Amino acid sequence: MNTIAVTDRKTHSDSLVLAKAAAERLGIPFVDRKKASLADLRASYGVDNILIAKKGLLYLDTPDGELFFHPNMSQLRVKNLRLGQSDHMVEAMGIKPGMKVLDCTMGFGADSIVASFAAGDNGSVTGVEVSPLIAEVVGYGLSHFLAGNYEMHAALRRIKVVNADYLDFLKRQPDKSFDSIYFDPMFRHPLTDSKNINPLRSVADHRPLSEEAVAEARRVARHRVVMKENARSLEFARLGFDTIMGGKYSKVHYGVIMLD
Ligand SMILES: C[S@@+](CC[C@H](N)C(=O)[O-])C[C@H]1O[C@@H](n2cnc3c(N)ncnc32)[C@H](O)[C@@H]1O
Repeated sequence: MNTIAVTDRKTHSDSLVLAKAAAERLGIPFVDRKKASLADLRASYGVDNILIAKKGLLYLDTPDGELFFHPNMSQLRVKNLRLGQSDHMVEAMGIKPGMKVLDCTMGFGADSIVASFAAGDNGSVTGVEVSPLIAEVVGYGLSHFLAGNYEMHAALRRIKVVNADYLDFLKRQPDKSFDSIYFDPMFRHPLTDSKNINPLRSVADHRPLSEEAVAEARRVARHRVVMKENARSLEFARLGFDTIMGGKYSKVHYGVIMLD
């Protein structure tokens, strides 16, 4: 995996336990860093990525920047939902309290968190992520980050993270076992202003969504299958997402397949 696990330089016993446990879960070497800089570690161990346990969370230092979990990307959207405003993704997915949602492309977990808040205490969100490093960093964050308010905290903790390829995961699910299924693949044509996802880009899976995965999702979903893409993307037509939703002037749109 081209990655080692370390603590920050001010080694704390909690960070040591976390770094060792994460290294074991991922099957990567744990390195006793002592005072070595990240550049020294890269040179000594010949790796691109360094997983760092610090301040109770995991950070992945990649050549393109640091990948870490923070709910900031979902906070404003959750706040707007709390104020009774709508959210384009929640509308497109038709999420109602109590629903069972499958996010096939969890990434940073922002969309999973918004879906989890919208589905509420009696709902559930499963977030599938194929990259073991992203699943580890974000999964650990979702279960340990201390959010500022109870509803956000509960929304984070309700998300179940699965490290798998969504096609394999979908094939294992019974017919109509989730209400709404969501795909947010890496855009075929990335939007240039989304630089904060650069560290994710270097470890993410960039394959396009396949017709086979859409067919599986149609079988597993009861209500809707949704894909987020660049507003002018040809992927919607290619994959049969015949209803397009989202803001008129928004750079991203949601393609929806209605099943009921
Ligand atoms: C654009 S990001 C998703 C961002 C996410 N919606 C959010 O709110 O943070 C796409 C993610 O899907 C993951 N991915 C791509 N192909 C996948 C697959 N076949 N199975 C599971 N995850 C996949 C990538 O590794 C990447 O982390």
